[in-house]
Amino acid sequence: MESIIKEAVKKYGKDREALVSVLREIVKQKKYLSEDVLVSVAREFNLSTAQVYGTASFYSFLPTTPCGENVIRVCKTVVCDMAGKKELVSAIEKKLGVKMGGTTSDGKFTLLETNCLGQCDNGPAMLINDRVYTKLTPAGAVEAIDNFFGMA
Ligand code: FES
Repeated sequence: MESIIKEAVKKYGKDREALVSVLREIVKQKKYLSEDVLVSVAREFNLSTAQVYGTASFYSFLPTTPCGENVIRVCKTVVCDMAGKKELVSAIEKKLGVKMGGTTSDGKFTLLETNCLGQCDNGPAMLINDRVYTKLTPAGAVEAIDNFFGMA
């Protein structure tokens, strides 16, 4: 793990502005930021662990708990919420057999909420890994998951 951190720091530098990029690089490779990683990154940047954790927890794309192989993120921000986010989440929870924030027992999927995806005119919106889905109905969300993973 130390080598991943060192490589990321070498690539982006140790300035405070580089912190998010370094954390993103680690997540790209390790899927989440463990406590050990937060401590090591804090040491590299000469910050407190709380400061690094504070940065990580501000961004939904920097998880601090383990995630499954694939991450489904549903926009929780007000416009999508009003456009039917609750029904969407219920349908996805039923499809995956897991509650919001959870990971399926086979480790394949984690279901998370995220802040605005910049698709407010086309909500409700969700991401499956890096792919954005918009104007979703509950059935449409389930279909998107089926199609993305070839489960249909
Ligand atoms: S509020 Fe959901 S994409 Fe902006």
